[in-house]
Amino acid sequence: MTQYSGKFISLEGMDGAGKSTHIPTIISLLEARGVEVVSTREPGGTKLGEQLRELLLHAPMHPETEAMLMFAARREHIAEVIEPALARGAYVLTDRFTDATYAYQCGAKGVASHKILQLEDWVQAGLQPDVTLLFDVPAEVSLQRLSTARAPDKFEREGVVFFEKLRNSYLERAAQFPQRFRVIDANQSLENVKALVTKIIATI
Ligand code: TMP
Repeated sequence: MTQYSGKFISLEGMDGAGKSTHIPTIISLLEARGVEVVSTREPGGTKLGEQLRELLLHAPMHPETEAMLMFAARREHIAEVIEPALARGAYVLTDRFTDATYAYQCGAKGVASHKILQLEDWVQAGLQPDVTLLFDVPAEVSLQRLSTARAPDKFEREGVVFFEKLRNSYLERAAQFPQRFRVIDANQSLENVKALVTKIIATI
């Protein structure tokens, strides 16, 4: 695969794990180095991707349809946003990427992992984040945080068993790719988590 001069960072975790809260901190830490930072998200990040996001978050569909639409949105995202940014030397910070498909569609919803792998090979052609920050909290903590948050989308309405499967899949991915993953214990104060995030970003 092409070698890029930029760096590709993904943020992962269950809904309610608090990953998105830390995006502004990460952006300012990186920008302080004088690099361009492209902050984006999945599903989404492009005009078509955001349209697919609306469908994915609200329309009931087969888990395999969901996986394929996630990768359709990802294909656009890579072609339009991620690869051009990496090629010009920018840091790309994405709120979720393919580990989310392994956790949600495969781990929690039962799509066969070899099918996800085929889509991954096709769509990414070897492109992987350089670093993935996994915000880890117990399932009950996620659910508790979500119960006081905004109106839930279809993923956020799932129960504790779903969230436990999600967490396990994420932790399995982290164990499988220890070089890429940094697991953050996000079941502590915002300040402590922020300090951990700051420390990790300094190493990237
Ligand atoms: P967000 O709320 O963190 O932006 O994520 C949107 C939802 O989409 C979240 O519940 C996780 C889900 N999702 C998947 O199920 N599979 C995927 O591949 C991605 C990127 C997100």
